[in-house]
Amino acid sequence: MISPYNLDNADAYLDWRRLKLAHAITHTDELIVEIDDPCQLTDAERTALLSRSQRSNMVIYAARKRINEQGLQRLGAQLGLLRLDANWLAGEMGITRITVSHNNSQRQAYIPYTDRAIKWHTDGYYNPPERQIRAMLLHCAERAGSGGENRVMDHEIAYLTLRDANPDYIRALSAPDAMTIPARNDEQGIARAAQTGPVFFVDPEDGALHMRYTARTRSIEWKQDETTQAAVALLEQLLSSDSPHIHRLVLEPGMGLLCNNVLHDRSAFIDDPDLPRLLYRARYLDRLAMN
Ligand SMILES: [Fe+2]
Repeated sequence: MISPYNLDNADAYLDWRRLKLAHAITHTDELIVEIDDPCQLTDAERTALLSRSQRSNMVIYAARKRINEQGLQRLGAQLGLLRLDANWLAGEMGITRITVSHNNSQRQAYIPYTDRAIKWHTDGYYNPPERQIRAMLLHCAERAGSGGENRVMDHEIAYLTLRDANPDYIRALSAPDAMTIPARNDEQGIARAAQTGPVFFVDPEDGALHMRYTARTRSIEWKQDETTQAAVALLEQLLSSDSPHIHRLVLEPGMGLLCNNVLHDRSAFIDDPDLPRLLYRARYLDRLAMN
């Protein structure tokens, strides 16, 4: 099969585009699937979850039974998510607790562990290619007193929008030097080497489209050429638009987002001091199963 992401093949792209737009979910309610026990999905629940993710690279579940970290791992495993990416701040199981940190200075330096907004990004955009994050699970154990809304957008729609506007934008953002994340230093020296890479790339393993992106303006260097700059500007414009492909919602306790590392952000929030916001996040080297 010819890849729809091949810029030299307009026909394959147009076929893919037509199907993508015909099936893409544009009503947030349609993204939500109610499930009973995340540890033991029924066949119908599993099919309902995967049918959403096939259409829009994401699904939101609302579980009746409460779940712990081990249960989340079991939920992922039933959907093809087996290889967890062990993060250096993650707990032993490779699942990270995201909550406001008041006493851990290392964590406080990172926005996820504050109550501040997080700009649009895909997870692990700073990871080396061998540790690409292909899927992500974000589970809500406790919501914030107010705020903490997430916006999500299928990265394939971002690709489609940019390619429709100008295929050269895709060419520029697929260049291996499109985007550089500078090295991060700590007291011991370099904690993470600089990562230079493309925004869009096709996974050689399975032909799927991946996206590395952050809307941060600090700690990121874009290639200084006109086409790259124009492409990034259009992407920013799309992400701040009222596109029907941008979903916004506040995850309630028991709800979670499962996705093939789509674009997402988070608004600032205010905690209820008695019941602070707590989300669990798992990052995977696998994509969600196809069926
Ligand atoms: Fe994220």
